[in-house]
Amino acid sequence: MKKTVLITGGAGFIGSHVVRHFVNKYPSYRVVNADKLTYAGNLQNLADIENAGNYVFEKADIVDEKVVDALFEKYSFDGVIHLAAESHVDRSIASPNEFVFTNVIGTVNLLNAARKAWKDNMDDKMFYHISTDEVYGSLGSKGLFTEDTPYDPRSPYSASKAGSDHFVRAYHNTYGLPVVVSNCSNNYGPNQFPEKLLPLFINNILTGKELPVYGKGENIRDWLYVEDHAKAIDLLFHSGRHGETYNIGGHNEWKNIDLIYLLCELMDEKLGREKGESAKLITYVKDRAGHDKRYAIDASKIQDYPGWTPEHNFREGLSKTIDWYLENTEWMQNVLSGDYEKYYEQQYLER
Ligand code: NAD
Ligand code: DAU
Repeated sequence: MKKTVLITGGAGFIGSHVVRHFVNKYPSYRVVNADKLTYAGNLQNLADIENAGNYVFEKADIVDEKVVDALFEKYSFDGVIHLAAESHVDRSIASPNEFVFTNVIGTVNLLNAARKAWKDNMDDKMFYHISTDEVYGSLGSKGLFTEDTPYDPRSPYSASKAGSDHFVRAYHNTYGLPVVVSNCSNNYGPNQFPEKLLPLFINNILTGKELPVYGKGENIRDWLYVEDHAKAIDLLFHSGRHGETYNIGGHNEWKNIDLIYLLCELMDEKLGREKGESAKLITYVKDRAGHDKRYAIDASKIQDYPGWTPEHNFREGLSKTIDWYLENTEWMQNVLSGDYEKYYEQQYLER
């Protein structure tokens, strides 16, 4: 094997697309997916590549220092792509501590292990940390986040991600660890856990449940197809400059309510329902606490690299995404079992 790459959080939404991309594109790499398999991690996401010769799964909790050290002792990693995290803003508002443990302590454990393992030779090594645009805070109606926008995290989730980003950069500055950080906007696509807007609403439309729009639905997000993010991660893992940050986005801003009407229109067409039928489910509910108004990304730095631009047109990407959920109702049933019902009740029915 030419390289051994650790991908953390590879059983989650984005991680599973990154693992598949690397396993298929780089047969000469050994890809080690380390994941705790929380409610958001699902090995079914990787069923198509689980028997590939260059793929290994390790059930591991990155909060446990000994577990992380043992992983680095077992494998000689040449690179790390770190995606494991608690990722849902609403859950971070309800219970912040888990976000500090996994997102901050877990990241520091990985940094320490990488530093120890690579101390004699950091050449050709890479610690790539995947972060979010939410660390930059909230925009007004104008402007874009650039790599120089000061950090201003406003939810426990974004504060924990900001904390982890600072540690990653500090390890570069202090110990010379070869790091790259990227901050991406909202991803959409297959395999996303149905606590997030799009899969939640797709499932609710299918099952005739209300569509809980926070506040007036006027918040704005920039949406990027998950495979476009995976391709950007591939590019930066191989060519990102050590110590640098890259913003990744789709130049694709949508006001939530406009996006929800588009989703309803597409769902009506696909389900053969009368036009306007799904939109009747829209229900305005109490706003998310501290709800960031607008995120928008200036992605010109990464777009200056030859070879990356978002390939998916939004309407087509959304249509393909809906088709995936409609064709994979068994996947949805499986992830909806367990604690999901309890979460749904607390988040939406007891508010
Ligand atoms: P996700 O919640 O779908 O998946 C997270 C994965 O991490 C799961 O497989 C889970 O089991 C694993 N995990 C959680 N705690 C762990 C622990 N203690 N040890 C080991 N594994 C653990 O998340 P996602 O949406 O795929 O996001 C992946 C990464 O990308 C996160 O770092 C997130 O902050 C970042 N990000 C997400 C988006 C987005 O729109 N989803 C956008 C930008 C950045
Ligand atoms: O910007 C990148 C971030 O995008 C990632 O770092 C996060 O991990 C990811 O979860 C996502 O965060 P958001 O909070 O933007 O995503 P979410 O899908 O939770 O919500 C999208 C928008 O829709 C947001 O403005 C809140 C709103 N919303 C969400 C839910 C779940 C609703 O109106 N109703 C809902 O039920």
